[in-house]
Amino acid sequence: MSRIAIIGTGYVGLTCGACFAHLGHDVVCVDVDPAKVDQLQRGHVPIVEQGLDELVAEGMLSGNLRFVLGAAGAVGDREFVFLCVPTPQGDDGSADLSYVQAAAREIAPLLAQGAIVVNKSTVPVGSAGLVAGVLRRPDVSVVSNPEFLREGTAVTDFLHPDRVVVGSTNAAAGRAVAQLYAAVEAPVVVTDPESAETIKYAANAFLATKLSFVNAIAAICEGVGADVNDVLHGMGLDRRIGADFLRPGPGWGGSCFPKDTRALQRIALDAGYSFDLLDAAVAANEQQFLRIAHKIRAAAGGSLDGVAVAIWGLTFKAGTDDLRDSPSLAVIAHLLAEGAVIRAYDPAIVTHAHPLPTGIELCADAYDAVAGAQVLVLLTEWPDFHMVEPAKVAEHMPGRSVIDARNVLDRSAWLAAGFVYAGNGYQ
Ligand code: UDX
Repeated sequence: MSRIAIIGTGYVGLTCGACFAHLGHDVVCVDVDPAKVDQLQRGHVPIVEQGLDELVAEGMLSGNLRFVLGAAGAVGDREFVFLCVPTPQGDDGSADLSYVQAAAREIAPLLAQGAIVVNKSTVPVGSAGLVAGVLRRPDVSVVSNPEFLREGTAVTDFLHPDRVVVGSTNAAAGRAVAQLYAAVEAPVVVTDPESAETIKYAANAFLATKLSFVNAIAAICEGVGADVNDVLHGMGLDRRIGADFLRPGPGWGGSCFPKDTRALQRIALDAGYSFDLLDAAVAANEQQFLRIAHKIRAAAGGSLDGVAVAIWGLTFKAGTDDLRDSPSLAVIAHLLAEGAVIRAYDPAIVTHAHPLPTGIELCADAYDAVAGAQVLVLLTEWPDFHMVEPAKVAEHMPGRSVIDARNVLDRSAWLAAGFVYAGNGYQ
């Protein structure tokens, strides 16, 4: 059992804190937001993460998990201090490290002798050295331990990862961080900080590029009359490709891929390499939003001006309430720019508590959203939409076009209900 402080209680920090407590460590989670700390101290988890509520309750009950306001009283007796603060995208595409630097400055005088500071936030290559420079504590080691948590499955991804990556110039410090995960069954990659930081960006950029490729194959399938579902199934059986992360969509988004791909473009340029392949994958993703918007315009008869369009799904993917860089909102922006009238339903966005762009009328359920609509578009793959009865939709919706950007609806059922079905990569 080790004594750990987590700086930042967002979906990464809170998940790491609760999971480390679950693994038996003594964890103090620190935030600068009094309201958030108060919420957490009352056991209220402000984010949608499967299993996180239970782990927070378990940790608070066992005494392994505490929440405090500010680092002052929280890091002095800690062996490990994890930096889980935001690293938002800067104007030039590079990651903004101001929160990391501020946290390092705050904890520097407070750290115990020989403490280990761990970069968990996604930080540019070379950041471990930058943090050490801010700390100015020769007795303190800085270790890179990037997170590979997907929103919605962050707890599972933490406790059952494909691998744990640790980057350190101090071998003992690297081993000590790796030891925190002893109860986790996964290969541990111990390397230098630059390599650990590069693994994170390279993995995310590769996954985004894989998706841009998948969406391009979907477009080609439509052109040649192939069925993308069979094509991707046939591709994915090749274990070098793999069946995972091979589903067409309206494009990729979220709080990580867009930020991390642009950061790696910047890192590459600064390293003297023009990453044309990644530039093309990012550009292809922007084109994907437009391609879906064009399909919707065609289904509306060639113009969207004044046309009522029903949207199912606003979040960047199912299983989360996160709207940040959502592909759905990117497509909707194109529709609104062409004069479309948008009614939308998303099971995770049922109140106006979430910051929605203007011009989107939020509806109470899937049937409410289709009222008066000429075209129905599924943009986020919530299971709820698979349960909707096409015949009942037909009673509420004057139009008969449905565009399934995630290929999750039952095509034959919608055809049977009199709809013209357009999938993403097959008709
Ligand atoms: C991602 C990485 O997966 C994770 O390892 C990293 O730590 C953080 O960034 P996340 O952003 O939560 O996780 O979402 P992810 O599940 O990867 O999906 C990213 C985007 O790709 C979403 O918009 C999703 O809808 C899309 N996607 C994903 C597809 O379009 N098709 C797929 O097959 C998978």
